[in-house]
Amino acid sequence: MSVNTTQSLWDRPHGYGLVSRVLHWLMAALFAVQFVSAIFHLVDRQLPLTKAIWSVHYSIGLTLFILVIIRAVWGVMNLRTRPLHGHGLLGLASLVGHLALYALMIFVPGVALVRAYGGGRGFSAFGVQIFQPGASDEAMVAPAHLLHGPAGWALLALVAGHIVMVFVHKHLWQEDVLGRMTRGRQDDARIRRPAATGRPVEQN
Ligand code: HEM
Ligand code: HEM
Repeated sequence: MSVNTTQSLWDRPHGYGLVSRVLHWLMAALFAVQFVSAIFHLVDRQLPLTKAIWSVHYSIGLTLFILVIIRAVWGVMNLRTRPLHGHGLLGLASLVGHLALYALMIFVPGVALVRAYGGGRGFSAFGVQIFQPGASDEAMVAPAHLLHGPAGWALLALVAGHIVMVFVHKHLWQEDVLGRMTRGRQDDARIRRPAATGRPVEQN
């Protein structure tokens, strides 16, 4: 039985499968909440709104950490069939950009969780205790004090660049990479460049 690209759970060369797309957009939404909480925390920790939204920072952070591990494993399982990164220097830049996103998606919550474990006060998420209070270990606490915030902001900057590149692909280079992650199908045939205006137009 043949399964078309849109319905496939697995990634295909012309589009991401359902599992990758659900993980990508679910995590993008959770990252949006996570960055909003970090911005409020940076601006004014005493605001009632900051206290309300900051209360989810730990639980969503742990959720993102679990999801990125699942996503990385799924990505490796699909490595041979997922869309290519293109050729030449731009293809390499895209590959490096995606790898850097993964590195930071793992490092940022990972280093904070190590701090929470080594901090001696225990750690709860969604009201469930994940680590019991224990002895405090400075070597587990220091890296996050130094790097969790800066690496979190670097991740936000990289995400902004990632989003800009999606629209550069579409509007400058007429490549429908967004379709790979929305419809599960890159559909460049839908975009043509009329000779008169040089601007791309969508065809139905
Ligand atoms: C991918 C997930 C995460 C992102 C993107 C993220 C991002 C950030 C950012 C940008 C800041 C700096 C805010 C400021 O400058 O005031 C911050 C602070 C903080 N985050 Fe996270 N975070 C994540 C996960 C976690 C987790 C899992 C924990 C707890 C285990 C945590 C605990 C904290 C704490 C305690 C602070 C304040 C102290 C500090 O800046 O290191 N975060 N986070
Ligand atoms: C409005 C927000 C976003 C848009 C429009 C968007 C769009 C896309 C598109 C079109 C692709 C496919 C690119 C290709 O195949 O060359 C993609 C892949 C990817 N995106 Fe995003 N993205 C967004 C947010 C995010 C966020 C918040 C993250 C992570 C923090 C992220 C991480 C990734 C990664 C790692 C890939 C590579 C495929 C994978 O392993 O899942 N994206 N994104």
